Formats: sequence, structure tokens, C-alpha cells
Amino acid sequence: MPPDSSGRLHAASGVAHAKGILIGEHAAVYGRPAIALPITTLRTVAEVIPGPGPLRLSADGYTLAVTDLPERFASVGVAAHVALEHFGLPVVDLEIAVSSDIPPRAGLGASAAAAGAIVEAVRVYAGQRLDEATRFELVQRAEQVAHGNPSGIDAHATRAAGPLVFADGRCTPLDVRAPMWFVVADTGMRASTDEAVAGVRRTLDADPARGAELLDRLEELTLGTVQDLELGRVSGVGQRLTAAQQALDALGVGHESIDRLVAAATEAGAAGGKLTGSGRGGCVIAVAADAEQAQAVLTSMISAGALAGWVVPVGAG
Ligand code: MEV
Repeated sequence: MPPDSSGRLHAASGVAHAKGILIGEHAAVYGRPAIALPITTLRTVAEVIPGPGPLRLSADGYTLAVTDLPERFASVGVAAHVALEHFGLPVVDLEIAVSSDIPPRAGLGASAAAAGAIVEAVRVYAGQRLDEATRFELVQRAEQVAHGNPSGIDAHATRAAGPLVFADGRCTPLDVRAPMWFVVADTGMRASTDEAVAGVRRTLDADPARGAELLDRLEELTLGTVQDLELGRVSGVGQRLTAAQQALDALGVGHESIDRLVAAATEAGAAGGKLTGSGRGGCVIAVAADAEQAQAVLTSMISAGALAGWVVPVGAG
């Protein structure tokens, strides 16, 4: 919201949503392609509220000065700082209130969505424009604090309107011509993206030839999935998701909670499934041919211990 005629700024808000990575996570950190899907039913809203005192963040009924934030919220503080500095606003006399439906540390892009919502709320508060490249850079500054060496896929996907292919830092919208239903479910195991990315790096460094083979395999599977999505081949997508999980297991980011939910999904008719995000727990993603099958897959994963789940229709108009 721009300043009013007296020049006073008003409270302003920004929104970003969750994302799922269909295929290509971890390989994306090495410039390989990946496919991301926005999950627009899970959202983070940030509001900028002027009021005297240090810059503070409120969430879940708590309010803390940004300087006193615990480590796990450090990236949110950075998002507020870099956005205020970018728009030339004082880093004081403001509260930033954040509320989110996105489970944290579950592979659904909670940190990028929080940063994206804050950057947008500050932009609206400042009443200024922001080009997409600068917006991305601001969110990435926060993401670098959240998980070290982010490829940028989360920063893009938590703002995207539709599925996208991300490769070498660039995004292309993906044209899904026939509808498909993805089911995302939360294993309930919490894992750090930072540590998972660092673990994959150690695996690749330990055996570079094998590592290159695994990244090549993930790239080939991702490119095949792009074609499957364009042509509406559900079984092709499912087979590639399952094959990608094998490569991700070999990279050291599998977990028995992932295997359990993928097995439950395939028992209920899903064509295949895998982890989504950084793995070692977090969420899984499975593909179903129609809305009814997607509900059966979700029910099966909940019965197998999923904390929660969401059906994400793609290309369904
Ligand atoms: C995290 O959502 C996806 C990873 O590939 C990390 C990244 O690309 O920044 C694991």
C-alpha cells in the first residue's frame, strides 16, 4: 500500500505459497534441470505493522526483536532486513507478523515462502515497484541463510502460478496438456535441507564418477518427465518418480518413512512416488490418474502414518 496524502505508511501484506519438487531436487544444486509445482492451498502471509520499538517478528502468538530470533528463524530476519534496506526504509518501528499453513522443515519451501511473503509485504508497505530479478535476489539472500547453497528453485516456485522447469538458474513454465493429480504427504520426520545438501556433496566428492552418473540419471529422468507431462503419460511419470527415488537413495537422502508412504501410495494405485524437497524425511509426492484415485492414495498414506497430505491437480483447467 503506498503512503497516503500525509505521507504516512499503512500496514501492508504479502503472500507466497508452498511448492513441491516433482523431480530433480539435489541435482538442481549442480545446474541440472528440475520440475517444481506450486502448492497454492498452503500459504504464508506476512503483514508489516508500523509501531514504535525495534524491528520485530511475530508468529504463533510470540513477538521477538529480530536481533533475538532463534537460529531457525534467522532467514526470516534477513528477509525483513534486506527488503527494508532495499526500499530505503528504516530498520526500526515495525512489526512483521507472519502466519503460515506450510509445515516447516518438511521440504515444501516454508523458508522461501516466508521470505517471499515478507519481501512482498515490505514492497507494498513502501509503495514501490520491484522487478522479478531483484525480488528473486532478495529472497535468495534469506535462503542462503536458511540453507547455505540454494539453487533458487524454491524462491521461484513459491511465487510461480504453475508448474515450471528450472535449469541453470532459469525458469520456464511447463505446459501440462492433460490433467494429472499429485499427492503430497508429510512423513512427519523433520530434516534440515542444509544438512541434506551437504550430505549429497560429501557423497559426490567421495566418488565423483559414480556421483556424475547419478546426476546424469536424475537429469535424464527429469527430461523424460517433462515429455510425459506434456503428453499426459501418467504411468511414465510414475515410473520415473520411482526411478528417481533410487538415485536419491544412492545419494544418501532416503529414509524408511519415505519408503513406507511411497509403498502405501502405490498400493492404492499411484503410478509411482518419491521424496519431494531435500529428503531424509520431509514429504513424499506420488502421481495419480484422476481425482478419485488421488483421494484413495491420500487415504492410504494417512493410514500408513502420514501426518497430513494434499492433492495437487495439475493441468486440470
Ligand atoms: C530443496 O527444496 C531442493 C534442493 O534441491 C535444494 C535446492 O535446490 O536449493 C534439495
